[in-house]
Amino acid sequence: TLASKGDHEHFTLKEIVEQPDAIRRTLSGRLDERFNTAHFGGLNLNAKELMAFKRIKILGCGSAYISGSIGASMIERLARIPTDAESAAEFRYRNPIIDPQTLYLAVSQSGETYDTLTAVQEIQRKGGTVLGIVNVVGSSIARQCGAGMYLHAGPEVAVVSTKTFACTLTAFALLALHIGRMRDVSPAEGANVIRALNELPQQIQSLIDRRTEFEQVAKKYADYHRAYFIGRCEGFGLAREGALKLKEISYIHAEAYPASELKHGPLALIDEQTPTFAIVPDDDLLAKNLSTLAEIKTRKGPVVAIGQSEALNVEIDDYIHVPRYHPLTDPILLLIPLQFLAYYTALARDCDVDQPRNLAKSVTVE
Ligand code: AGP
Repeated sequence: TLASKGDHEHFTLKEIVEQPDAIRRTLSGRLDERFNTAHFGGLNLNAKELMAFKRIKILGCGSAYISGSIGASMIERLARIPTDAESAAEFRYRNPIIDPQTLYLAVSQSGETYDTLTAVQEIQRKGGTVLGIVNVVGSSIARQCGAGMYLHAGPEVAVVSTKTFACTLTAFALLALHIGRMRDVSPAEGANVIRALNELPQQIQSLIDRRTEFEQVAKKYADYHRAYFIGRCEGFGLAREGALKLKEISYIHAEAYPASELKHGPLALIDEQTPTFAIVPDDDLLAKNLSTLAEIKTRKGPVVAIGQSEALNVEIDDYIHVPRYHPLTDPILLLIPLQFLAYYTALARDCDVDQPRNLAKSVTVE
């Protein structure tokens, strides 16, 4: 069936607001409240085989790659297994060493991205194990992998990935729980994660209900020509996604940087004309992030912070408060304002939100 926009002005908006339902589908049937873990029907790996892997490597392109970088932090945080992400396009050309003790994960919404598909084939040719994390059922990457998990986000029509990104992070949280409970996550901590996942759709809904607040912020910054997005750990991944969304649909030059790296170069470009969007979770790096924001304000850079504290103890220009719930799922909540900021900025600049120039929904050629 062809997807329709329903009552929404754009597919992009429709797909942002349907995230609570999309995430419910990603979670559906996968939470095991008896053993406080997650399970999947299609991994085709038993506990012994999964436990034999010493590392995980996540591959994808564009937003799928970015989701993998956040997923890597999520898996390491909970399951304590070394995990990293790499662009599938870079990976396939650099003659990668395929390690039999590494579990490879290929992430793709369409399941048709050529660079990701060929990365999967390269891994398989060299004897590696690769699972797909894919939205479109029966797509090339899903079939090539033969095992993995479907996101069940539903059809994503807008060129920019929104609900698929949120569902992919949800899938990583499930995987982190599944692997974590085989390693050293306690049943009680597993139960906390399950509670956080069950609450997630409702919490996302509360953020969606605040969209006019995000629209006001977007309008205020829509006429700038460039922007920085900064964060640390998962927050840096979110900064990359926020910057990519803004670039894709509003054509503002947006650059993502780890907050910790700002003073090693990019600070030179901060001025009144260069706003910074900062992801500032209420975690053990809060003080570090606040001092970065102070450095930006000293150079007269406008600052929009997306954070979890009631208020930030530093001078900034605009603040978006996102309630804190569980560190594993909080990145998914912090993502929502970034999606709305990109959407409303594009509207304010009169851009074609659903069909940005020069881009196709999936890149099925080299
Ligand atoms: C996301 O907003 C992009 N349009 C793009 O980066 C996309 O995520 C990438 O091309 C990968 O597509 P896939 O998930 O279908 O493989």
